[in-house]
Amino acid sequence: MQAIKFKNNRLFYLDQRLLPIKEVWRECKSLKDGVSAIKNLEVRGAPLIGIFAGYVVYIESKKFFFSKKNFLRQLDRTLKSLKNTRPTAVNLFWILEKIESAVKANMDKDIDTLQNLILEVVKKTHLEDINSCKRIANFGVRLINETDTILTHCNSGFLATSGEGTALGIIYQAYKKLKNIKVYVDETRPLLQGARLTIWELQKKHIPCILICDDMAAYLMKQSKIDKIIVGADRISAYGDVANKIGTYNLAVLANYHKIPFYVAAPFSSFDLKIKNLPDTLVEQRDPNEVRKVFNKIYITPKDVKVYNPAFDITPSRLITAIVTDKGIIYPPYKKNIKNIFAKFF
Ligand code: MRU
Repeated sequence: MQAIKFKNNRLFYLDQRLLPIKEVWRECKSLKDGVSAIKNLEVRGAPLIGIFAGYVVYIESKKFFFSKKNFLRQLDRTLKSLKNTRPTAVNLFWILEKIESAVKANMDKDIDTLQNLILEVVKKTHLEDINSCKRIANFGVRLINETDTILTHCNSGFLATSGEGTALGIIYQAYKKLKNIKVYVDETRPLLQGARLTIWELQKKHIPCILICDDMAAYLMKQSKIDKIIVGADRISAYGDVANKIGTYNLAVLANYHKIPFYVAAPFSSFDLKIKNLPDTLVEQRDPNEVRKVFNKIYITPKDVKVYNPAFDITPSRLITAIVTDKGIIYPPYKKNIKNIFAKFF
């Protein structure tokens, strides 16, 4: 199952705003389409945003003509527009920087070759993302016991990555053998990625799941109904702080209080080693109407109410039991162990 398709040089995506009511595939034909799909969360989830943006650069680069100087100028404009879509997920910046360095290192080549080079970088990264999901699932499944009840937040499955997912990928892998595991999913207000997308995915895979409202999590933990929590990540710092969907920090604090393991699952492309501790300035602030309305249509509040709508929060590393990556599971102390695992693989 996939949320984007690149076929015959054309880019298609499943419009996630409409799920689970309608399954509508759209074609992204230009930078403008791509930018708006990412900004509006038609395409979302940290790893998927990166891969999709990479294909958008390629599609747009087919329109770069005249001279190499012009090619570079247009590439620069395209990369800037994409970088301005969503600030928190580092995967986006990571792939765009990869494309930029590949092009700049090959400026002696002709325009056709440069366009093909962009596609090569994107396809390779796409394949790596699919494989990263498989590896995360294989490592993560070791943390799951036969009768575990797992709580997850937001959506970190095949709608958020190029493969089966990160946190949800672990659950999918576990369910293949452990048919008694149970999954709770919280709604994930304001845009309901848990209620709309994660439940839709779990149902597609026939995995039993129960939906709860975000404010029910503490009560479930108090009743010993949750054995572990697994979430994805949009950016992980060198010292192990995690930016993820708003509400992740709530769960981490609650897990700490109730002594429940709190796991984060993410590929290496979600790490930002340039930053030691994530600042709040990296958190995307979104349109107040996302809180005032449902489905971008019906107001559920007085229209003029003031709203604060941070799309992500930052969970400090001390609240995280382990980080499951595509290269292995990282345990505290994160400062040392993140450095070591990266040194081993790069
Ligand atoms: O705003 P979204 O829906 O793009 O936020 C997505 C999340 O926060 C996910 O948990 C995260 O990207 C990890 S996806 C593998």
